[in-house]
Amino acid sequence: GLAALGVALAVSGCGSFGGSVTPVRAVEFGSELAIPPLAGSSVVDGVRTFDLTAQSGTSEFLPGVETPTWGFDGPYLGPTLRAERGERVAVRVTNELDEATSVHWHGMHLPPAMDGGPHQPVAPGQTWEPTWEIDQPAATLWYHPHPHGATEEHVYRGLAGLFLLDDDASRAAVLPSEYGVDDVPVVVQDKVFDDAGRLELQHDGGEPGTLGDTVMTNGTVGAYHEVTTERVRLRLLNGSTARTYAFGFADRPFDLVATDGGLLDAPVRLDEVRLAPGERAEIVVALEPGEVTRLRSADPDLGGIAASFAMGGNDAFDVLELRAGEDLAPSPAPSWGRSRHADDGELRAEDAATVRSFELAEREINGERMDMGRVDEVVTVGDTEVWEVRNAHPVPHSFHVHDVQFRILTVDGREPPPQLAGPKDTVYLEPHRTYRLLMRFEDYTDAEVPYMYHCHMLLHEDEGMMGQFLVVEPGETA
Ligand code: C2O
Ligand code: CU
Repeated sequence: GLAALGVALAVSGCGSFGGSVTPVRAVEFGSELAIPPLAGSSVVDGVRTFDLTAQSGTSEFLPGVETPTWGFDGPYLGPTLRAERGERVAVRVTNELDEATSVHWHGMHLPPAMDGGPHQPVAPGQTWEPTWEIDQPAATLWYHPHPHGATEEHVYRGLAGLFLLDDDASRAAVLPSEYGVDDVPVVVQDKVFDDAGRLELQHDGGEPGTLGDTVMTNGTVGAYHEVTTERVRLRLLNGSTARTYAFGFADRPFDLVATDGGLLDAPVRLDEVRLAPGERAEIVVALEPGEVTRLRSADPDLGGIAASFAMGGNDAFDVLELRAGEDLAPSPAPSWGRSRHADDGELRAEDAATVRSFELAEREINGERMDMGRVDEVVTVGDTEVWEVRNAHPVPHSFHVHDVQFRILTVDGREPPPQLAGPKDTVYLEPHRTYRLLMRFEDYTDAEVPYMYHCHMLLHEDEGMMGQFLVVEPGETA
């Protein structure tokens, strides 16, 4: 339970619908950005094998304050796993915590029994070893626990990491690609600390969950990164449990190069990219010698009254400082050929045999809360489908589907903006809008073990805003 873990649970006084949001504190940008180490691996019988241990520890986020945290292979967050398309991988996940957890490979196409959702708990002291073949385009994926009812707390305590995929197209692309140097992972999270320095979850019965007054990148509060090249690629992950960001720079645009599931057709010049919990974006930004700029989050346009859930008193807050050296190595503008692997069939709307509708309201999807024993949808392998997802609620939600990367056909009947035009597995749902998502279910069937779809605002997920689908053989019923 929460108390045993030392997570303080605060009940704030504001019972109003919008709740009150504490402004993000201004901080000094004086600490070097921590770069999650690349996970080691060994190739055993042709299988690239990683080890990942969930453990507890303490972290010093605030000067002189020891905060109890959880992490993989360390006190907070976890190493970056990295694999190549076509490789078979295995991960030995060991749970050294005092309670069950799980590890879900967010964005990964893999069999449901390997997915690490609520049906694959890892008991304390146990090791779980999923294995699968990497068979999807290069992308910035991530991993995090998914124990039913406790995902928010496990992620908030620090259990999360990146899983990078490479392929021929990404290797051939002109993109900054030296990990931690000009290809920089940026996991953005917000926290609240109580007086004892413990991480605090705020459940005031309000929306959308805990919005922290302290923002950190890769576990560093007030981080800077020394830039040594004319361009730098930031792999942004919104690893927060509730907050939606609008990332950009006050003084320059950037090129959006990839969304959740990999490269766009071509770079898109933008001033801002909005990311809800679980979403990723890869951006490339150019600096002149000696320049200093800051990645920031401006007030995201959340639609409707949702705006009051994001910012508190802030118009914008800074997230990460970039400091360019006087002598920058040349770095050409990003470009690449086709983003998709030659044998990836394109998703075509005319192939969609089935349209399913999902309405999100309160903590329910289509009027139901998550039930581990109920299968909500049964899909036939090989089928292309349209999932029509409507946020029927005045508050934000973030819709995630396991196993697939989807394409957003329309938002309220209109073409999606460029930042929603790439491969996606998670999408922010503006209040009272309908999103048509095109997806295909391939390769893996299981008549018993379901995949999940859910809101990625983790309090909402824990409170039941989740459903289960099976992928079965043609003619098979669940
Ligand atoms: Cu990132 Cu089902 O979760
Ligand atoms: Cu939600």
